[in-house]
Amino acid sequence: MPTTAGTAAEVTINYVITDVERKRKFVCVDVHDIPEVAVIDPDMMATMPKGLTAATGMDALTHAIEGFTTKAAWEMTDMFHLKAIEIIAKSLRGAVAGTDAGRDGMALGQHVAGMGFSNVGLGIVHSMAHCLGAVYDTPHGVANAILLPTVMAYNAPVTGDKYKYIAAAMGVEGTEAMTPDEYRKAACDAVKRLSQDVGIPADLKAIVDPADLDFLAESAYADACRPGNPRDTSVAEIKELYQKLL
Ligand SMILES: NC(=O)c1ccc[n+]([C@@H]2O[C@H](COP(=O)([O-])OP(=O)(O)OC[C@H]3O[C@@H](n4cnc5c(N)ncnc54)[C@H](O)[C@@H]3O)[C@@H](O)[C@H]2O)c1
Ligand SMILES: [Fe+2]
Repeated sequence: MPTTAGTAAEVTINYVITDVERKRKFVCVDVHDIPEVAVIDPDMMATMPKGLTAATGMDALTHAIEGFTTKAAWEMTDMFHLKAIEIIAKSLRGAVAGTDAGRDGMALGQHVAGMGFSNVGLGIVHSMAHCLGAVYDTPHGVANAILLPTVMAYNAPVTGDKYKYIAAAMGVEGTEAMTPDEYRKAACDAVKRLSQDVGIPADLKAIVDPADLDFLAESAYADACRPGNPRDTSVAEIKELYQKLL
């Protein structure tokens, strides 16, 4: 019975463990981790403070966007992810403001995203966020939300026309007439706007100590979500992505 609207852990094969001594977070995968029955009741999430609603909601959006663009994505999971992006984009501002419609939407949207990504995996937003959680105890959704637009821009060249659908699902109008550069920028901008509207910081300046960058990049490269990233990457490129946000 989830009490936050983000992880979709009630429907995924994943769970995450933090090794506090080695400062690493591990994604574990086990089909027996899916409960036979899950009760998803938005009333259980009604006591979440605004910051937790925003962070967990942006985690759900990250699942939907990374799941939609991950290497193994296909028609069935695209269906879940696109619908999840649409529901989350429509609901998260309201959920943070405390409306019933917003909370109902987020309870549903995070779950629909989980029905997708549990089948295909995620990407390096999650890999890079896991390290921030392990080293600085950064809330998972906050880390994802800060990283997401920068990693989306990095992945854009290998995503075909997928960002056109992301932009449209986020409520951007006129995507059909846009060039690839335009709809890719529109998708990244729509994510940034939502993140800003729900009070997420724009960069990692207050979180990351530059002295840790090599460890963070190596640790993110070793993360279980990294091979699913649509663009093949390297320790050096992951380090540059962190640096862009400092
Ligand atoms: N499918 C998966 O396995 C999956 C997916 C994404 C993230 N994760 C992992 O899940 C963890 C994050 O989980 P989370 O975002 O649900 O946060 P959380 O479980 O860490 O909860 C954050 C805080 O909010 C409090 N809280 C929870 N519900 C509340 C409520 N209704 N009212 C008031 N306070 C409440 C908790 O007690 C806790 O202190 C991370 O470790 C992340 O890596 C797992
Ligand atoms: Fe997540």
